[in-house]
Amino acid sequence: MDSKLFYKAMSGFYDLIDIVYFRDYENSPRKAVFESIGNTEKVLDLCTGTATNALKIAELKPLSEVIGIDLSKDMLKIAQGKAERSKVPNIKLYHMDATNMRFHDKFFDKILLSLVLHEVEEDLAGKILAEAKRVLKDDGEIIVTEWEKSRKLFCRAVFLPIEILEPKPFKSFIKKDLYRYFERYGLKVVSEVHCDYSRVLKLKKAEY
Ligand SMILES: C[S@@+](CC[C@H](N)C(=O)[O-])C[C@H]1O[C@@H](n2cnc3c(N)ncnc32)[C@H](O)[C@@H]1O
Repeated sequence: MDSKLFYKAMSGFYDLIDIVYFRDYENSPRKAVFESIGNTEKVLDLCTGTATNALKIAELKPLSEVIGIDLSKDMLKIAQGKAERSKVPNIKLYHMDATNMRFHDKFFDKILLSLVLHEVEEDLAGKILAEAKRVLKDDGEIIVTEWEKSRKLFCRAVFLPIEILEPKPFKSFIKKDLYRYFERYGLKVVSEVHCDYSRVLKLKKAEY
């Protein structure tokens, strides 16, 4: 399916992911991402989708400046509705391609890339990571959330719909050694947290 249509179809029920998989906030990647952000940082939520991470940070860290960008107008429409209802002033949402962004070099302290890399083809993932690196400050961090298969039988059963519904790149991406994968893009993993159905990795520019 064409990716525009895929995200259009997903947008209406995308937030079910948080209800089904990340319901237990204490063990959720949303908490791990939130706790990675300082109080006064400039944060870019790349491929923000319905802006769950971006809004949480903007709401609970009022001195942060949060920007969410996405290519899907359908996803952004849901995000915009949520942002308007929450009335937080420190979040901006833009329709923008993550491979060609209108931001200055080295502008952001933190960049979020949550549940994105497994569902795009490898060359697109490479372009997104190169752009993320360009707009990240030299001492900044990219916070990546990705799906992870649990060893528990019950969790594996609950995870099945994800395995079935995710686009083609998912199958090979989930098996990747992400430490080596990010090295290829000049990024090093500096920490990793395992959460429900997912893991959250902090990356820094390899040369710093
Ligand atoms: C599965 S959603 C992830 C949403 C959100 N980050 C989260 O944690 O729930 C993936 C998002 O990536 C967006 N996306 C894919 N390719 C993109 C690109 N080149 N530029 C901007 N957004 C893109 C899609 O439109 C979609 O909203």
